[in-house]
Amino acid sequence: MKLTFLGHAAILLEHAGGRVLVDPFLTGNPKAAVAADAVEADVIVLTHAHADHVGDTVAIAKRTGAVVVSNVEIAGRLAREGIETIGANTGGRVALPVGAVTFTAAWHSSSFDDGGYGGLAMGAVFEIGGRRVYHAGDTALFGDMALIARGGLDLALLPIGDHFTMGPADAVEAVKLLRPRHVVPIHYGTFPPIEQDAGAFRDAVQAATDSVAHALAPGEAIEF
Ligand code: NI
Ligand code: MN
Repeated sequence: MKLTFLGHAAILLEHAGGRVLVDPFLTGNPKAAVAADAVEADVIVLTHAHADHVGDTVAIAKRTGAVVVSNVEIAGRLAREGIETIGANTGGRVALPVGAVTFTAAWHSSSFDDGGYGGLAMGAVFEIGGRRVYHAGDTALFGDMALIARGGLDLALLPIGDHFTMGPADAVEAVKLLRPRHVVPIHYGTFPPIEQDAGAFRDAVQAATDSVAHALAPGEAIEF
C-alpha cells in the first residue's frame, strides 16, 4: 500500500493498480503537490462538502471516469453534474473497485460554498490490500475514536491545524485512542489560521505513544 500526501487533506492511496483519491482540493491550494489535470483516480472519496475537500472532484471525475463516493447529499448533488456517484452515510461500508470504505462519525459541519446542505461530515476507514487506513476528515477529538480502533489501524490521517478542527495536542490524544501503527498529520499549513509545526507534532506523538508519525511534505509518499 502506497500513500501519497497531496497537501491539505488530499491523499492518494494506491494498491495493486487501484487508486483511491480523497478530498482532492488542488486548484487554489497553495500547498497542492499536483495539478488537478495531472492526478489519476479510479475512486474519489469525499469526507464532507466544504470547498477545501470537494475541490476539483467534478473535473477529475469527468476526465478520469472515477466514481465519487460520499454521503447521500453530496453524491446526489454531484450526480447532477453528470458524474457517477455512490451515496452512503455514517456507519455504512461500501465496496470499492479496490477494497472498501466505511464512513465514520466526525464532529464538524458540511455545507457547499452556496450554503447548500452537505449532509453530515464524516471520516473514512479504508480496507485495501489487507491494510486499514483511517482518514479523519475535519473533526474535533471525540471519545468514540476508540471504537474506530477496533480491528486495528495501520495508519491514521489526522487534522492538526486547529481553528477549524482539532489541534496538535488533541490530535496526540486521538492517537492514544486510535493506536495506529503510523500517523500522518493533515489539514495544516495551507492558510494562516492553520499554521502548525508538523515536526513538533511528530515528536509529541512519538514521545507519548507507540505510533510512528510521519510529517510528510506535499508530494511525499510512504509505503506501509
Ligand atoms: Ni471542513
Ligand atoms: Mn477543511
